[in-house]
Amino acid sequence: MPAAIIDGNAIAAQIRDEVRADVARLAAAGVQPGLAVVLVGDNPSSISYVRGKTRDAAEVGMHSDTIRRPADITQDDLLRLVEELNADPAWHGVIVQLPLPPHIDESAVTAAVRPEKDVDGLNPINVGRLFRGEPAFVGATPAGVIELLLRTGHDPAGKHAVICGRSNLVGKPLAGLLIQKARGGNATVTICHTATPDVAEHTRRADILIPVMGQPRTITADMVREGSVVIDVGITRVPDATKKSGGRLVGDVDFEPVAAKAAAITPVPGGVGPMTRAMLLSNTVIAARGGPAARA
Ligand SMILES: NC(=O)c1ccc[n+]([C@@H]2O[C@H](COP(=O)([O-])OP(=O)(O)OC[C@H]3O[C@@H](n4cnc5c(N)ncnc54)[C@H](OP(=O)(O)O)[C@@H]3O)[C@@H](O)[C@H]2O)c1
Repeated sequence: MPAAIIDGNAIAAQIRDEVRADVARLAAAGVQPGLAVVLVGDNPSSISYVRGKTRDAAEVGMHSDTIRRPADITQDDLLRLVEELNADPAWHGVIVQLPLPPHIDESAVTAAVRPEKDVDGLNPINVGRLFRGEPAFVGATPAGVIELLLRTGHDPAGKHAVICGRSNLVGKPLAGLLIQKARGGNATVTICHTATPDVAEHTRRADILIPVMGQPRTITADMVREGSVVIDVGITRVPDATKKSGGRLVGDVDFEPVAAKAAAITPVPGGVGPMTRAMLLSNTVIAARGGPAARA
C-alpha cells in the first residue's frame, strides 16, 4: 500500500480558519492581534518569507507590519528597535527574520525579544520553559510538525521518533516537544546529526521519522521502516531546467521510493512549509490572548 499523503496545505487552512475565528473574538473584545516583523538587509529569500508572513497575518484580520533596516545597521541600533517593539502594546508578537548579517549576534537579538512577545520561540527563557514542561512559546515549525501528527491520527505517544538534525530552530525544540509528558509528546526520541556514525541504523527503527537536515533526498527507502510515518522538514531549492524559474524545492526524503514503504508521508512542497506559516499566526493569537497555556 502506498503511503497516505499528509496534506499540509489542507491542515494549515483549517488552522488559519481557527485563527480567523479567534481574531474575530478578540476584535469583539477590543483587541486586534498585532505581529511586527523586523527585516534587516535585502536577502531575496528573507524578503519573500517576510512578505508571506505579513500577508498571512492580514488575511486572518491581524495587524501586521514589516520594519525594514539596512544590512549595515549596528547591533545596538537593532537591539534598540527590538526594545521599542517590545514596549509598544500594538504588537503582541515580535519576530526578527533570520539570518542576520554576520556582524550581528543572532543569539543576542533573539534573546532581546521579550518572552511574552517571542512568537518564534527563540528566546532562551521560552526554550528553557519548553524543556521544563512549562507554558512556553514554541517555534512555528516544531509546533507545526506536532499539529500535523496529531491532526492526522499519528499521536507520538508511545512511539519511537527519530529526528535527523539538531538545530536550535527546529531539531532541538521538536525533541523538546516530543519528550514532554503532555499532549503531542510521550515519544521516545533519538536525535541524529553529522557526528552520528550510522544514521540509517537509527532511522530504520523509527515509527516516526523527521528529517530536518537541508540535505536533499538523503533519506532513501533502505533507511526507512515499512509502515512508518515520515515528516520531511527539509526544503532545498535544486536546479531544474524544466521549470520556468530554473529550480524546484525538494525535501530531505527520496520521496517516491520512501512513499512506497511508509504508512504516511508529507510532500515537499505542501507538507511542513504551510504549517510553519499557519502556526506563526496561531502563536500571535496566543500572545494576544495573554500567553501560552500549559500543555494538557
Ligand atoms: N518546512 C519549513 O517550514 C522549514 C522551517 C525551517 C527549516 N526548514 C528546512 O529544514 C532544513 C534544516 O533547517 P535548519 O535550520 O534546522 O538547518 P541547520 O541549522 O543547517 O541544521 C541542520 C542539521 O542537520 C544535521 N545534518 C546535516 N546533514 C546531516 C546528515 N547527513 N546526517 C545527519 N544529520 C545531518 C546537522 O548536524 P550538525 O549539527 O552535526 O551540523 C544539523 O544539526 C533546511 O532544509 C531548512 O530549509 C524548513
